[in-house]
Amino acid sequence: MSNKSKFRAIKGTRDLLPSETALWNHVEQTAHSIFSTFGFGEIRGPIFEPTELFARSIGVDTDVVGKEMYSFEDRDETTVSLRPEATASVCRAYIEHGMQQFPQPVKLYYTGPMFRRERPQKGRYRQFYQIGAEVLGGTDAPAIDAELIEMLMTFFDKLGLEGIELNINSIGHNAPNCRPAYVELLRAELTKVKDKLGSDSQRRIDTNPLRVLDSKLEFEQGVIATLPHIADHLCPDCAAHYASVKTQLELRGIIYRENWRLVRGLDYYMRTTFEITARGLGAQNAVCGGGRYDGLVELLGGPPTKGIGFAIGEDRLILSLQESGKAPSKQGRDVYIAWMGEHAYATAVRAAKDLRNAGFSVELPPTELKFAKALSHADKLGAKFALILGDNEVSEGLWTLKTLADGRQQKLPEPALIEHLRNSLSPSPPL
Ligand code: HAM
Repeated sequence: MSNKSKFRAIKGTRDLLPSETALWNHVEQTAHSIFSTFGFGEIRGPIFEPTELFARSIGVDTDVVGKEMYSFEDRDETTVSLRPEATASVCRAYIEHGMQQFPQPVKLYYTGPMFRRERPQKGRYRQFYQIGAEVLGGTDAPAIDAELIEMLMTFFDKLGLEGIELNINSIGHNAPNCRPAYVELLRAELTKVKDKLGSDSQRRIDTNPLRVLDSKLEFEQGVIATLPHIADHLCPDCAAHYASVKTQLELRGIIYRENWRLVRGLDYYMRTTFEITARGLGAQNAVCGGGRYDGLVELLGGPPTKGIGFAIGEDRLILSLQESGKAPSKQGRDVYIAWMGEHAYATAVRAAKDLRNAGFSVELPPTELKFAKALSHADKLGAKFALILGDNEVSEGLWTLKTLADGRQQKLPEPALIEHLRNSLSPSPPL
């Protein structure tokens, strides 16, 4: 028996091929340009960090830290984990680089892979990609929350993302007259209806009653609808902050839906939370999640610092764009050089170099092909023009250019070629 079984990408991971990466690049370039108009700078951090960083910020009892991290012992016996998200890392970097000395607030964004050992399904992977942004330091002025959301909506709008809905909520803060009092009330109400809930929710009555509000189980929905709303139990400061965030959103013409069940699954959140859903994604329809996390930097050993941010699931964003027909046209080539003869080949190499320098995409076959074969290859590659170079063309200095869509052929002197191509090739259509 030969041991040549084929390798496949590990479950929950995948390859992105050129037919898809064109759209990925377009999305990332749009993020770079929109985010920079809002004054954000890019941060690139490590893909693994001490496990303790995530445990302390996201929370040991969360699914992400409790069940989903890829962790391993490093040789020096520290436990490290592949990052399941990047907010904790950005806060670590803020402290490590003394960014509290920078003009505040510090506005950072990132793109890159994250890792969570979840059950793979449509829009859910074990290696997935986020585009995120964080605003750290300065004040917790509600205008910051609203401007961050405005940036998100501008980005989605620029990409033409369809059917999006912005959900917002406030989950108050950790003081006896605010969220903890609501959590106790919720626990008491849930205990009364315990036997109408499934086993996960029953367990959460003790561990984290807020998470019961996340439940998607059909039979629990009726009971959940009768539970008290956190907005009615916020302390005066949190209530005022939430009201002001809404006013600030309205000032920017941003349409939102208040969703009292939006509690988010990570421990560091307080006050503003938000999520955006998009069309065409099935069960995993959250394309972006975020919220305020004042105090997280302090929890990680830094100075008292305000913070708010979001992360977009780039895989889901791309899926939604593809489902609504926003995928780019095939890669194609501008010019295919059909050369014949050693003499012509030297000219073809030079022509390819000049055309590429002028910005055209060029395919130069590495070996000589029969004319018909070359043209059919050009067709398969989606080339727009074939530049035909044989001995005649080279000695006359007149090159033959064939438009592949209609078969039209014309002779052009070499110096006129680039200008002619510039005029006939309109720039690639926007996605
Ligand atoms: P999150 O809600 O855990 O928040 O993730 C943000 C987004 O990442 C989700 O809305 C989803 O689109 C995408 N996502 C999460 N898990 C997966 C997965 N397994 N496969 C595909 N996409 C996924 C955070 O990560 C926070 N760090 C966001 C944040 C930044 N809050 C404040 N600042």
